[in-house]
Amino acid sequence: MGQPWERIFAGSERRLKSSAIRDLLAVTAQPDVISFAGGLPAPELFPVDAIRESFDRVFRTEGAAALQYGPTEGHMPLRAMLAERLSARGIQATPEEVLITTGSQQALGLLGTVLLPRGSSVLIEAPSYVGALQAFTLHEPEYLPVRMDHEGLVVEDARRVLKAASVWPAFAYTVATFQNPSGVTMSRERREGLLTLSHEFEMPLIEDDPYGDLRFDGKAVPPFRALEGGDDAVYLGTFSKTLAPGLRLGYVVAPRPLISRMVLAKQAADLHTDSLAQRAVLDFCLHNDLAAHVDQLCRVYRERRDAMLSALKRHLPSSCSWTVPEGGLFTWLTLPEQVNTVELLREAVERKVAFVPGSAFFTDGSGGNTLRLNFSHPTPEKIEEGITRLGALLTQRLTSEDAGGRLELAGSETR
Ligand SMILES: Cc1ncc(COP(=O)(O)O)c(C=O)c1O
Repeated sequence: MGQPWERIFAGSERRLKSSAIRDLLAVTAQPDVISFAGGLPAPELFPVDAIRESFDRVFRTEGAAALQYGPTEGHMPLRAMLAERLSARGIQATPEEVLITTGSQQALGLLGTVLLPRGSSVLIEAPSYVGALQAFTLHEPEYLPVRMDHEGLVVEDARRVLKAASVWPAFAYTVATFQNPSGVTMSRERREGLLTLSHEFEMPLIEDDPYGDLRFDGKAVPPFRALEGGDDAVYLGTFSKTLAPGLRLGYVVAPRPLISRMVLAKQAADLHTDSLAQRAVLDFCLHNDLAAHVDQLCRVYRERRDAMLSALKRHLPSSCSWTVPEGGLFTWLTLPEQVNTVELLREAVERKVAFVPGSAFFTDGSGGNTLRLNFSHPTPEKIEEGITRLGALLTQRLTSEDAGGRLELAGSETR
């Protein structure tokens, strides 16, 4: 006799539903499938030996402390180092304004817990990072999606959405640099506009920035906290994309009142982030040149991005368009209106190639003809082969028809 799990879970399905797309993507883990679906860094670039040396050193020099319970806020020397290093990006923060989290995914969860009372709303980009949507959806907010173009979130559209909203927004959430999923970077002008809007509507602004350091070309755009009047913005960072995601080490920079609330929520969630990992990452940063390591990542990822853009140009039908990211891990495709990319994925998997259908990143059922491609994980050879397969499938699907339908996000490159 088991427990009646169906009845026990009744009412929570909406908040914790398994996604049909995720189930479909499970098959893409097969070794013969070329997957552009994940958001994984290239594992061959993990500095495994240097990280092992750091863990060894921590065990030798402060093993017992690293194995003891630690403060919820995080290891103070790591918070201090982050505060100091962030100033190079124009982010001014005291160590007390830095909270160490178990990946930035935990920071999203904690923000949901402390900022989303029942019946609130959240301003988001459309499309938006699916993991943030999952974290926020546990609190059942109303979503206020805002259109994007090749310069990022359209501020005037945000203003219109806010004016029309029936519920005051608890916060605005943006991945402003090399966005997951679109690869788009918000211009400085738009950032200033959104910051102004956040003050006008008394709506905290949360910038999630896992990819900002991975710039291959173009000019850096300052984070919100580095803009005039931006020192009350919330900034989320992580070592997942610059060092290794398995370390589960992220951080939040925020005003003290918000940090205090998040500390309470974190205490309830996991007491503190892995002490050993915190000390090892601090040690790594003190004994290695992280910036040089990131430069190497950028060289490899730039080559892979170029391989992908070049393959898309050669193999995709002329009615398809895509974004040209200046960094990060993703590009975003828009296909003719009549293509449903969830259906396309079924056929693609049969041809041993995978992507994430774009509808996963929208809260309003739109984006059915869009998809996300990752270029950091597959090698240039796999990228060429995978895009050849995808191109052949699309060419067959679209045969002689030319559906026109151009997408706004793809303003940067079409063919
Ligand atoms: C925009 C964004 N935020 C947060 C995360 C989660 O990162 P972490 O590994 O630090 O939890 C990801 C991971 O892909 C991401 O793309």
